[in-house]
Amino acid sequence: MSSRVPLTYGKKVIELFKNPKNVGKIEGANAEALAGSLACGDMIAIYLKVDETSDKIIDAKFESYGCAANIAAASILTEMIKGRNLSEAWKISWKDVSDELGGLPQVKYHCGVLAVGALRRAIRAYYEKRQKPNWLPKELSQEERHALEEEKLMEILAKRSQK
Ligand code: FES
Repeated sequence: MSSRVPLTYGKKVIELFKNPKNVGKIEGANAEALAGSLACGDMIAIYLKVDETSDKIIDAKFESYGCAANIAAASILTEMIKGRNLSEAWKISWKDVSDELGGLPQVKYHCGVLAVGALRRAIRAYYEKRQKPNWLPKELSQEERHALEEEKLMEILAKRSQK
């Protein structure tokens, strides 16, 4: 008998896992980030097309190498941010994403955090060569620290496997 406890995913999570929206790359994206979770080693890429004059997100897509919860979270998050400007998108928390999904099982919270952290990394990347707005915190937010850049994630995972 398997000792695995089945996860209680809500209807919305299952629906978006089966039919995710906004999957893929954006050719000519002007902001993107690839980030991975230290909790599970999974990765996600976020692509944004931002209108340079209004800072409004015209298009958002993702590629997830994560679980059902991460795919559902990234799907709904990319829907939530389209048409919003970057400062509004920045304020979306993983809890907002989880609420919009009808809740995530506790052991899957980090999958939502990964999606939000990757989005924030993409927003930060957008401002790397532009004048930074006042609302952008200088310090990395908790979500960004969770959603590590690929190299950093690999470095930490490699160190862990040596132990
Ligand atoms: Fe890795 Fe969900 S378990 S993203």
